[in-house]
Amino acid sequence: MNFKNYSKIIVANWKMNGSFSLINQYKNYLKKNYIKFNKKIAIVICPPFPYLTICKNKFKYKNIFLGAQNLSLSDNFSKTGEISSSIIRDTQCNFVILGHSERRNLFKESDKLISNKVNESLNNKINVIICIGENLSEKRKSNTFKVLKKQIYKSLSNNCSPKNTIIAYEPVWSIGTGKTPTIEEINKIHTYIKKILNIKYHLKNYKFKVLYGGSVNKKNSKDILSLKSVDGVLVGGASLNIIEFAHIINFNKN
Ligand code: PGA
Repeated sequence: MNFKNYSKIIVANWKMNGSFSLINQYKNYLKKNYIKFNKKIAIVICPPFPYLTICKNKFKYKNIFLGAQNLSLSDNFSKTGEISSSIIRDTQCNFVILGHSERRNLFKESDKLISNKVNESLNNKINVIICIGENLSEKRKSNTFKVLKKQIYKSLSNNCSPKNTIIAYEPVWSIGTGKTPTIEEINKIHTYIKKILNIKYHLKNYKFKVLYGGSVNKKNSKDILSLKSVDGVLVGGASLNIIEFAHIINFNKN
C-alpha cells in the first residue's frame, strides 16, 4: 500500500471486541454503501486475531486494508498462545498497531520492546501504526512534548520511514473517556510530532502520516479530520458501530 495515494487514513481498532455478527454488519453495510465512499480515504480494520482471515475474505475493496493489534517477537517459537509477525504476514495483513497505551500499561510493554516489535514487523513487510501519547499526570505537569519526543526516539526503529510507518497520537487521558484536546492543541501537537520525526529521520518536508486517536466520534471527526496536520484518525469505540464509523469516514460529506 502506498500511503501517498490517500488523503486520509481511518483506522478501526476493535480492541478485544468483535463477533461474526459485527463482521456481517460491516459486510452488509459496505455492500450497500461502499459505492458512495471516497476512494482516496484508506480504511484499516483491526479486528482480534481470530477474525483477520474472515475479514480479509469479506472486505474485498481496493481501499480497505487489514491490521493486527499486536505481535510477539520471533526470538523463540515455543510461545504457546502468541502470534508472530510471519503468521500475521501469512494472513495478508498490511498493518499492525504497536505501542498502544493499553499494551504499554496493562502488559508493561516498554519502548525498547515496542521498538523491537516495530523492527521485526517492518522486516516482515508489515506496515506499523505506532501509538504515542501522554497520560493525564504528564499533561498536567506540561510534559506532553517531552513524553512524545522520548517515545518517538525510543519506540521507533531505524528501518521506519514515511513509506512503512504511521504514527498515531493518542493522549491516554482521551482514550474511551469522551474527552479530547482542543482542535488548536491537536494541531500544535501534530505539527510538533512531524517536526521531531523530520529531525530524527533527516527529512525536509513533513512526510510521516500522523493520525489522531482518542474519543473520535461522529460529532468531532469533521473538525479533527479537517486539520491539515491530521492525516487520519484511529477510532476505538465508535468503530464498533458501522453506521457511526461510516459517518466518520464520510466526514466531508456530512
Ligand atoms: P476510543 O479508543 O476511540 O474508544 O477512545 C481509541 C484507541 O484506543 O485506539
